[in-house]
Amino acid sequence: MPKVRITETALRDAHQSLIATRMSTEDMLPILDKMDEAGYWALEMWGGATFDSCMRFLDEDPWERLRLIRARIKNAKLQMLLRGQNLVGYRHYADDTVREFVKKAVGNGIDIVRVFDALNDLRNVEIAADQVKKEGAHLQLCMSYTLSPVHTLDSFADMAMKMKEMGADSIAIKDMAGLLNPVDCASLVKAIKAKVDLPIELHSHYTTGLASMTYFAGIEAGAEIVDTAISPFALGTSQPPTESMVAALAGSEWDTGIDIEKLLPVCEHFKGLREKYKKLLPAIAGVNINILRYQIPGGMYSNLVNQLKEQNALNKLEDVLKEVPVVREAMGFPPLVTPSSQMVGTQAALNVLTGKRWKVIPKEIRQYFLGYYGQPPAPVDKEVQKLAIGDEEPITCRPGEKIAPEMEQARKDAEPWATQPEDALTWVMFPQVAKDFLPKKYARVNKRDVGLQEQEHESAYPV
Ligand code: CO
Repeated sequence: MPKVRITETALRDAHQSLIATRMSTEDMLPILDKMDEAGYWALEMWGGATFDSCMRFLDEDPWERLRLIRARIKNAKLQMLLRGQNLVGYRHYADDTVREFVKKAVGNGIDIVRVFDALNDLRNVEIAADQVKKEGAHLQLCMSYTLSPVHTLDSFADMAMKMKEMGADSIAIKDMAGLLNPVDCASLVKAIKAKVDLPIELHSHYTTGLASMTYFAGIEAGAEIVDTAISPFALGTSQPPTESMVAALAGSEWDTGIDIEKLLPVCEHFKGLREKYKKLLPAIAGVNINILRYQIPGGMYSNLVNQLKEQNALNKLEDVLKEVPVVREAMGFPPLVTPSSQMVGTQAALNVLTGKRWKVIPKEIRQYFLGYYGQPPAPVDKEVQKLAIGDEEPITCRPGEKIAPEMEQARKDAEPWATQPEDALTWVMFPQVAKDFLPKKYARVNKRDVGLQEQEHESAYPV
């Protein structure tokens, strides 16, 4: 039994991070048998942004992709990324939607569900976690790593204990920005291991050049699983290279059990895909030194640069970057991951560009201060909250409780185009995309003219 296990991210995070999630199912199918033979613990291959992109850019059914991959993978586990109550979409969904989605994901072949919440508010992962357990799948609960005065080793260890109580089969440390350094990673893994005896999986990005070192330090401290990408889809904003990790650990007490020869055909295949999608690759794959200087995610940094360029205010970049910690503190130190990274960045820019802090507050930030995203890691600044929401009373319950059941209506709405029960989920999560995608799929499956169908069922579209 290998001491360290490898989760390959080429089919999900690696192409999401490097080529805007554009890898198609057709690109994946020819290499799956070789990947299955290679000795990976798991293939991360579904969820995150792949669900939406599949339909939006590739005209593919994500459910069909899952079934096609499942049919070809016998040894490795299939793993997906789920954003708690957000599922794979961009808002909180109702509890019945969350339960139905988990049922169908596991029912169609997912073995391991990695569930996280942007604020680390475990109430937002509660329903999904409960359903994963009910379906008998492997529940991996995941903490969003971030730096702040309230994100201490103790706070992460306490979180891990709560995760165990919720039934977690393993715990993931998600370092979306690549900010976790080797020394801190070792301390973090030890702090969690001291309290919770569950396997720990490390997930990082190479953006700052730290990730391979961080993995090794984490492995020495007791982490059992690491996320890597086959080399043509590794490095830069993606994961550390699989081959290098396998070679680094070979013959040691942490041997992965993977024969590097078996990775050769996998590497060759993805080299071809790298060539195919080279126009989408970032121009420079090296280290982004500004991420190390300002300790914010790469995506957030480039968004800020673009935002300020548009406003002809790039000379204010330094001021805005200095404003980020101020805004973040007032908001109770949210981890900087979608959607909080965009919210904090936008508010910091507004505070600087308007010349007065909190003069303009966007709707999302008001919702945040009203509690609709969940509970921030620390109390928010009361005066700023007052500016944002006035006399309105913030909610203190689990945000999902405020959302009425959605599935019954979605089933009715999707019915004219549905070729499978899963289509109702697609409809409720991505109504705009589904309106375009489902009729096309219906026509393909039923070999019928979609134009006629559209006329007959015009009223099915929400206006
Ligand atoms: Co990632």
